[in-house]
Amino acid sequence: MQLRHLFIGLIASIAFGACGTDDAPPIEEPITIRSLTNLPYAPEAYTYKIPDHFQELPQPDSNIATVAGVELGRRLFYDPILSRDSSISCASCHLPASGFTDQLASSPGIIGEKTLRSSMSLANIAYQSSYFWDGRSATLEEQSLHPVEDPIEMDATWPEIEDRLRNSEKYNAGFRAAFGIENTGEIDRYLAAKAIAQFERAIISGNSRYDQITFELNGFFTQLEEDGRELFFTEPSLDHPGCAHCHNAPLFADNRFLNNGIDSSETLEGFSDLGRGAISGNPFDNGKFRSPSLRNIEVTGPYMHDGRFETLDEVLDHYASGGHYSPTIDPQVTGFPLSDYEREAMKAFLLTLTDTASLTIPELSDPG
Ligand code: HEC
Ligand code: HEC
Repeated sequence: MQLRHLFIGLIASIAFGACGTDDAPPIEEPITIRSLTNLPYAPEAYTYKIPDHFQELPQPDSNIATVAGVELGRRLFYDPILSRDSSISCASCHLPASGFTDQLASSPGIIGEKTLRSSMSLANIAYQSSYFWDGRSATLEEQSLHPVEDPIEMDATWPEIEDRLRNSEKYNAGFRAAFGIENTGEIDRYLAAKAIAQFERAIISGNSRYDQITFELNGFFTQLEEDGRELFFTEPSLDHPGCAHCHNAPLFADNRFLNNGIDSSETLEGFSDLGRGAISGNPFDNGKFRSPSLRNIEVTGPYMHDGRFETLDEVLDHYASGGHYSPTIDPQVTGFPLSDYEREAMKAFLLTLTDTASLTIPELSDPG
């Protein structure tokens, strides 16, 4: 009976904005569901600012961005309210100035324990067909649900976070403006994840010197950079690195899972991190990881899923050596001779991918 009365009370409070009716018995729990229809909802489409040489930005039909949606996602992304003790936000491990990474091999979450892998850059993330190093999330909306309940990262529970958001006037207005919901009871994890995904799709980097020179015909590469560019883009062979085979322009990434030879293993099962194989269950995926974007690589180190390389020199030494043997190493990781001049040239080219403006876009910064 008690429950039924509570339910009636809730309906009444939605309908009349009041707590209970005269003949209803006193209700012990506070009623948290409130009507939001008095708050503004005037959706306006959000236009993602992508450079001309990028393909149209993909967004799911079920989550087309609005100005208010991106703004809500931005608030959530920077707000420690999503962690159990309100101590860390998404941005604690994804800092704009570091290409939305944290420049650590593994990141301390709220209890100080470190994440198993290195934080990832979020630049141009809308173009990916899967998320995480092992691609275990198929959409950004789904990915956004994980950090909150990850015991190493934010260590909260969604019901707890949903309550916090329902009890926050700021967020009541934000969710109403973004999604046109009619009462606070509709605020949930799925809408929060949608808003975060809308915001993350706005993290775009396509205006580095490489882009200006190549697509806007604005400026020139130095001879050193140009020689590095040629090495980067040449087809892989015993003389050439063939980096572009797995880091394709203009995103310098690849949605495939590949083994670039950083781990050695005599058998299919011997990798210290199975990577994609642990998700797909296919042993021939063991030791494979998503090939990440090299945009802003100057500021996103240390490198690889476990942050094992501190510098680009170490990365180049790795590829030049041909990597470590394992049954799933990619045949394109062949090794190649690397003279001092070629090393400097490749580094110089990689540094043309730094898009300084993308690291400080005001609309993507902490709204405070
Ligand atoms: C404690 C640090 C930490 C926090 C907090 C954190 N992340 Fe991450 N994030 C990581 C790590 C580490 C990975 C890679 C994990 C893996 O692949 O196993 C990652 C991966 C991602 C990816 C996948 C990127 C790609 O290229 O596939 C996205 C998107 C992302 N995080 C968004 C978020 C959002 C949104 C939040 C807040 C709700 C958040 N992160 C909170 C550390 C963190
Ligand atoms: C066979 C495909 C393949 C080739 C060829 C290749 N890469 Fe990679 N690259 C990958 C994969 C896969 C990763 C992620 C590996 C991991 O972390 O386990 C990666 C990671 C990297 C990273 C680290 C990125 C980060 O965010 O941590 C850098 C830098 C890099 N590659 C540069 C290069 C350069 C320079 C070349 C040419 C010399 C090259 N790659 C050739 C597949 C490849």
